[in-house]
Amino acid sequence: MIMETPNKTIKSLAILCSGGDSPGMNPAIRSVVRTAIGLGIDIYGIYRGYTGLLEGDIQKLSLSSVSNIIQRGGTILDTSRCTEFHTAEVRQEAAHLLARKHIDGLIVLGGNGSFTGAMNLHKEHEIPIIGIPATIDNDIAGTQYTIGFNTAVQTAIDAVDKIRDTASAHQHTFLVEVMGRTSSSIALQVGLCTGAEQVVLSNQAINYQDIADTINKGKARGKTSSIIIVAEGEKVGLSYQIKDELMKQYNLDLRVCILGHIQRGGSPTAIDRTIASKMGYAAVHALCEGNYAHVTAFNKGDIEIVPLTQCLGKKTEVTEPQLELIRALAI
Ligand code: F6P
Repeated sequence: MIMETPNKTIKSLAILCSGGDSPGMNPAIRSVVRTAIGLGIDIYGIYRGYTGLLEGDIQKLSLSSVSNIIQRGGTILDTSRCTEFHTAEVRQEAAHLLARKHIDGLIVLGGNGSFTGAMNLHKEHEIPIIGIPATIDNDIAGTQYTIGFNTAVQTAIDAVDKIRDTASAHQHTFLVEVMGRTSSSIALQVGLCTGAEQVVLSNQAINYQDIADTINKGKARGKTSSIIIVAEGEKVGLSYQIKDELMKQYNLDLRVCILGHIQRGGSPTAIDRTIASKMGYAAVHALCEGNYAHVTAFNKGDIEIVPLTQCLGKKTEVTEPQLELIRALAI
């Protein structure tokens, strides 16, 4: 069955992943492919994000292309960060390529940078586009959730629990650095769920005195270990700077563990599989219904189709209530 839309008949769609991969991309791809084929729409996979689009690395997908991937991390389409796509001439090439392949619309899985590229492609060439928010950082405006966040948090929690075992055995204090770039979402949730003594946010001046006081107070009341979760910020390795400073100013002996890319891998959790499956299904239907520059957002427990323009910036973070809770429970 071909869906008639107010503006255009969608006969053929393409899907790509862009930016950092996130666990849950595969269930979303599976959902898009199975939904499209179920509606009689041809579906193409674009490999390696916008880079692959420019190189014409595009293949038709079938029902069995997405068999046995719902449980797999990474993305079967691969991904890339494509800086060339920042220029209008390059986007024009991409638009020509999609037209030559008779592709009527594009589904983009990714984060802020990927959505900006998608918006420009739509504005300049009227290509119908739906974004599916997928990044472990959970930092996209207009949606309370991005695919991959829950799995990344669970991976980090498992790691910190293990670090706590050894920290406790040796009466050590650890600085554990988590991903998220300028977002502190992962740090806050991991801090709460691991009983961390403190969380260092990515967007605030570091209060060394406060960290030292927390560690010393814990030792004084008989704690056998302390865990400080550090949001990485713009550049990986902030925890080493904090460690050196605390050593110099307060003579504290600390260990550092940067969790790094393990947070991006692994089998998606039930939450990520569920939201990815719902978003993939909603994305295809949204395009068929004539929503041509939109995002499958997750708000108040449900999928909503919101304008792409609402999802271009970074989400405003409300950190204080969660920080307050972490402080209150780490007493
Ligand atoms: O945006 C996802 C993310 O994993 C961030 O949390 C992290 O800062 C960044 O990507 C790392 O990117 P790369 O893998 O390119 O070093």
